[in-house]
Amino acid sequence: MSRFRVGCDKEGYYLEDSFSGQHPLRVNFSHPEFLTRLRGAGKKSELVARAVKAGAGVRVLDCTAGLARDAFVLASLGCEVTLVERSKVVSTLLLDGLKRARQRPELCSAANRIKLTNADSLAVMSQASLEYDVIYIDPMFPEKPGAAAVRGPMQHLQRFLGTDEDALALLSVALQAGCARVVLKRPPHGDWRSPIQPTHVFKNKNSRYEVFTG
Ligand SMILES: C[S@@+](CC[C@H](N)C(=O)[O-])C[C@H]1O[C@@H](n2cnc3c(N)ncnc32)[C@H](O)[C@@H]1O
Repeated sequence: MSRFRVGCDKEGYYLEDSFSGQHPLRVNFSHPEFLTRLRGAGKKSELVARAVKAGAGVRVLDCTAGLARDAFVLASLGCEVTLVERSKVVSTLLLDGLKRARQRPELCSAANRIKLTNADSLAVMSQASLEYDVIYIDPMFPEKPGAAAVRGPMQHLQRFLGTDEDALALLSVALQAGCARVVLKRPPHGDWRSPIQPTHVFKNKNSRYEVFTG
């Protein structure tokens, strides 16, 4: 029997990890905790919004969709977000979560500003004409021994996908894609170093956003 299983019930698609006691993983933008975050989300209060310079009509290419929480926050602040996710399973969960969000009055306008592509961002960014204001990258970095582990749904995702060993390649390709702003999210501590010095850094105790401007 394989460890991970994708299923579907009346609440939509889920990913189950038979080695863990955690609830199955779903993309649910109407989870009360996430709704609270969205209600409080502002251009000042959300570090990701400050790093991206979120605002109405800002076109964001999110190269590492994952559970699309950052993307949803950005879309709720008016950004037009293109999500790229290479995992077929994660894309299935996301598509399902976005479909359900479009049916909820309080979520539909943000959900309608998000499009999803199941592809590798390295290939997407190599296309000749990239028409985005911002490229956003949030890879799964290896955990630093002794550092606080990621929790909840993100921990579930990490067990399923492992770490993104090509994070550096994503950053270099993004920096050459001719976009005015590239934002890299990474853990606040650790040995990982960006190959070039960021223009600005926004950080708090949980995250660090490195901003590269052209
Ligand atoms: C840490 S998660 C992103 C979390 C996301 N920012 C959120 O708010 O939920 C990283 C995701 O990026 C995806 N990913 C990593 N490298 C990618 C690539 N080259 N192309 C497309 N997706 C990629 C992984 O499959 C994973 O789902």
